[in-house]
This record gives sequence, structure tokens and C-alpha cells, in this order.
Amino acid sequence: MRIFTLILLVTLTLGSCKERILKSAILPSDFHQTIGGKQAKLFTLTNKNGIEMSVTNYGGRIVSLMVPDRSGRLEDIVLGYDKLDDYINSNEQYFGAAIGRYGNRIAKGSFKLDNLQYNLAINNPPNSLHGGAKGFSSKIWDATQNGENELELTLVSPDMEEGYPGELKVMIIYRLTDKNEVAIFYSASTSKSTVLNLTNHSYFNLHGAGNGDILDHILWLNANKYTPVDANLIPTGNLDPVTGTPFDFTTPIAVGARINDNTEQLNFGKGYDHNFVLNKKEDEKVSMAASVYDPISGRFMEVFTNEPGIQFYCGNFLKGKEVGKKHKQYNFRSALCLETQHFPDSPNHSEFPSVVLKPGEIYSSACLYRFSVK
Ligand code: GLA
Repeated sequence: MRIFTLILLVTLTLGSCKERILKSAILPSDFHQTIGGKQAKLFTLTNKNGIEMSVTNYGGRIVSLMVPDRSGRLEDIVLGYDKLDDYINSNEQYFGAAIGRYGNRIAKGSFKLDNLQYNLAINNPPNSLHGGAKGFSSKIWDATQNGENELELTLVSPDMEEGYPGELKVMIIYRLTDKNEVAIFYSASTSKSTVLNLTNHSYFNLHGAGNGDILDHILWLNANKYTPVDANLIPTGNLDPVTGTPFDFTTPIAVGARINDNTEQLNFGKGYDHNFVLNKKEDEKVSMAASVYDPISGRFMEVFTNEPGIQFYCGNFLKGKEVGKKHKQYNFRSALCLETQHFPDSPNHSEFPSVVLKPGEIYSSACLYRFSVK
């Protein structure tokens, strides 16, 4: 009898120590770390179709996303690392991350609001990029998992953090729906007038992260115009028609079809790194912004948003130095980002849709990536 009790106890103890094995093969314990008194963790969301997504509250990052191909084979289609330390020490700071307070560049890190001048960190000389030196992508967010398929992240950003005015209360909800959608909802409120532009910086490769480049991905962008940039990737202020340029994705075409054309805009971006002005019907709130199709795997991704723009960036700064999940190298143009957003440098362009958030107002933004096969 005693021996039986002992065996039972040992079995139960070992069982409870055994770590959940994720389809992505990532070990959640590799994300457990206390940073600045806060606990970083890995959360796993699942849906009824077997899609699995893992998110860490370090930077609100989507760490893995297991999506089926046409034969039902799951593959992890976002770039990233399998350990928290690798995220912290990476040269590429934005894999999968929540970006804030301001997605993309603010020229020379300065802007005026209500006649006051604000100065931000110049972390991408000569500009400020993605919220500055320590943006939302490197914060430990408070996290609550709601059931199998939803994670709620919250953060209070103090007044003048990274040079931005107003105490900001931010919430992000990641939801993995049974329609195979990754839905991201952002909301925020501020104590003083401020500027805000939140987005997510997932790097997608529909062949699977680390499995070659994305030049064969067929892209469609619901945008008749884009915002051309200067040599420092700051919008000139013009909204130029895409017609007759390599920026015309209004008919689906391979990302690589014209990427090496010798045009000033492609040279400035070292490829595509541009904001597109989304076509919207009057009063249209959430609308379809983009789609990407991988003819090899059959994976198809559609993007929906209420934002006026989308940054299409195709990994021009990846150089194979990053060794990611499963020891795979992330080479030049081995992923693409479709970051729903307001336009870059809007605080310095009164002609662009406003990014000002005032006390009493609620910021609200949505981005939805829907997956299927063709
Ligand atoms: C954005 C920018 C790019 C680059 C990446 C991160 O998409 O537009 O220029 O900085 O982020 O490397």
C-alpha cells in the first residue's frame, strides 16, 4: 500500500513538472524571466482548427504562428527566436513586436503639438523610429489570458516617456478566432494631448520562417496611392499614384517582379519600405487592405484594418546575421511586414490624417490577418 502511494506521488510530481510541448517546438520556460521586477512569459493561443500562436508579454510579440498549407501541414510562418534572451540581444529589434508610441519614423525625432516642441530619441539617425530607444516593443506588458484564444496586454506609459507627452494607458488584445484570424485590437487614452500610432511588426514568410525569400509571394495592395519618401525614408508629403510604377499592386503580382527596378524610390528603400494609402469607401471603417499568396504552399493571408495606411516592408535590412527559431538564418528579403498604421511622420504633416489623441478620447485601431489556402 505504501509503495503504491509513493509511486502515485512520484508520477504526479513528474507529470506536473513536465512542460507543455508546443506545436512550434518552443519551450515556454525559455521565456520565463523577471526583468525590472516584472515577469516575462510565453502565452499560447489555440483555435478549433489546430492553429497555434504564441505571444510573449515582452514587447507584446507574436513569437510563433503555426498555420496549415494546402495539405494541412503546419508551419511556423513568422520570424523570431525561440528564447527570450535572443529577442533581448538581437540586432533586429522588432520581430513580431507591438510598436509604440509611434509606428515608423518621425523626422529628426521632433514635432510640435499645441505650439510646444517635443524631442524624441534619434534611434534611426537622423530620425526617431518605432517609439524611440525603449519603445513598447521592449516593455514587459501586464498580461491576462482569457480562455484558449485571447490574450489581453496592458501598459501604462508615463508622461514624457521617450519624450512623448501624456500618461498613456494602452490595451492590446490578441485573439485567434475559429475563422483562422489573428485579430489585434488596440485601445488607449491619454492624460494630455499626444500623438499615437500603434501597429504590429510581424515578419511573415508563408513558406515558413527561414525557408527562403518572399520574392515569389503574390501581393495585392488595396492602394491606388502611396507616400513617396526622401533618402531618409521620410514622406515628402505627396500622395503619388502607383499607376505605371513598381508600387502598383492593385493587380496581384509577385513581390520580386519589379523590386530591383532602378527607380529612386526603390533605391531609397533598398526595396519596398513604403507606406501605402489605403482605398476606402466613404464611411468604410474596417476594410480589406492587402493579401499575400504563396503559390508553393497554397497559404493565403488577407489583411483588414480601420487604419488609413499600411507599411509594406520586405526585410531589406535582414542580412543573414540573425539566426532565429530552429537555428534558421534570416537572409535578405526573407520576410515581409504589412504594418497597418497612420502615415509615417504624420505629426509633421498637417495634410495627413491626424494622429493626435486628446484627453477624453479613446484611440482605437484594429488589424486582422486572416489565413486560408488556395
Ligand atoms: C519598419 C521600417 C523599416 C525598418 C523596419 C525594422 O518597417 O519602415 O525601415 O526599420 O521597420 O527593421
